[in-house]
Amino acid sequence: MRGLLDPTRIVSLRRRLVWQFLLLSAVLVLGLFLVVGWVADRASRASQDAVLGAAVTAITEGIRSVDEGLELDLPYATFSMLGAMGDERIFYLLTVAGQGVTGYEDLPPPPSPPTDMTPVFYGADYRGARLRLASVGRMMLIQNRLQPVTVTLGQTRLGQAAIARDTARSAAWAALGFMLLALPVALLAAQAVLQPIRTLADVMGRRGPRDLRPVRHATPRELTPLLRALNGLIARLRAALELAETFIFEAAHRIRTPLSLVRAEAELALAETSDEATRIRLRRMVRAIGESSRSANQILDHAMVMYRTDQYAAARVDLAALAHDGLRAIGPIAEMRDIRVTHDIAPCLIDGDERMLEIALRNLLDNAIKYAAPEGHVDLTLTCAQGQACLIVSDDGRGLSDDPAQLIGRFRRGGNVGDTGGSGLGLTIVTEVAHAHRGRFQLKPGQRGGTCALLHLPSA
Ligand SMILES: Nc1ncnc2c1ncn2[C@@H]1O[C@H](COP(=O)(O)OP(=O)(O)OP(=O)(O)O)[C@@H](O)[C@H]1O
Ligand SMILES: [Mg+2]
Repeated sequence: MRGLLDPTRIVSLRRRLVWQFLLLSAVLVLGLFLVVGWVADRASRASQDAVLGAAVTAITEGIRSVDEGLELDLPYATFSMLGAMGDERIFYLLTVAGQGVTGYEDLPPPPSPPTDMTPVFYGADYRGARLRLASVGRMMLIQNRLQPVTVTLGQTRLGQAAIARDTARSAAWAALGFMLLALPVALLAAQAVLQPIRTLADVMGRRGPRDLRPVRHATPRELTPLLRALNGLIARLRAALELAETFIFEAAHRIRTPLSLVRAEAELALAETSDEATRIRLRRMVRAIGESSRSANQILDHAMVMYRTDQYAAARVDLAALAHDGLRAIGPIAEMRDIRVTHDIAPCLIDGDERMLEIALRNLLDNAIKYAAPEGHVDLTLTCAQGQACLIVSDDGRGLSDDPAQLIGRFRRGGNVGDTGGSGLGLTIVTEVAHAHRGRFQLKPGQRGGTCALLHLPSA
């Protein structure tokens, strides 16, 4: 499965979450920098306006009309107040009827001329600096004529802007600090979010290869669609598997019955004919039919074991009684081949599936008899100790010629079989039965030649 995944297309959700958090935080820090800068700038402008407004009003109120024209009392307290606002430069202009009287005559005029003592505030660039200006107007009797007097006061914003920038920068640094503190929290949060997915993967990973039960594990609501899809897939898979198994079961069954009939007919014909050539042919036929019928039986047993593994329901089984039954069943064949069968069977109860265990035992005894030396010896030992049942079937036959791990594969037969018939399914069946019972199967050379088959099963 791992081989099917293209590593370049694997994305890490954890990494993606952390990157998204960092990106969002960066946007927030930038936003905070801009907003705090704007607010600080507005606040400093408001305080500067208050001072400028008070100053320009005080100056204007200090203007008096005298015979020679105008007299201006500069309120020094006001100027010292303006001077207190950092290293800002101050500009002023006094106009009468639009004509500059004193101050900087090129000072930018207000957008709309002031008509009363309510200051008009505005900003303008002047002599390479940004200025904030306040302008007030007043009608005065000058040389017996009522004329408009305007006083404009401007102040640079260098220090104010710097303070606003500093404030914004401090806010951004503070936000950055919080972001760094929040990073481990984000990592932990990502971990916590991904934990249910990891748990689900663990639950699935721990399952046996044939475990097709629906997943009942509790998952967060967000994972329910995934779980539903997974269970749907498992259900479809189980249905397909059941269909295939039923088909094999049925097919093997349907082949076996007519084969027995054909074999019986061929044996009858063999007994009735005396023509040697026909007898040879009929013997070959009987042998071939026997092989086919044996293969059908093995396929049927294999399908049965697979089916019962899926529907596994353990019950108390008397393994010793099963062993005695198995020995009784092979008795006639052993006798025919002059094979001595011995046993040492201890009482043994296990929790398992009796039908499967019987099939496994039959296959082990069948192999021992099949591959034992003529007039040889087969022994069955059953022990039960420390929660383990151990069934050993040994023979003194030809021994193994292949790696036992290879021989348990489906339809695998060893190089030692000679003209002995078989389909190569016996050991596959035994191994599957062992796994279904959480046991293990081992095939190894016998201590005094021959072969030794061991089936370990947990006892009751
Ligand atoms: N007791 C044994 N002595 C020697 N070789 C054995 C023994 N048991 C198994 N083998 C080897 O392992 C192979 C696989 O055994 P398995 O029982 O799966 O198949 P089989 O006996 O050939 O066919 P069948 O499906 O009819 O049992 C055999 O073909 C044989 O080479
Ligand atoms: Mg066999």
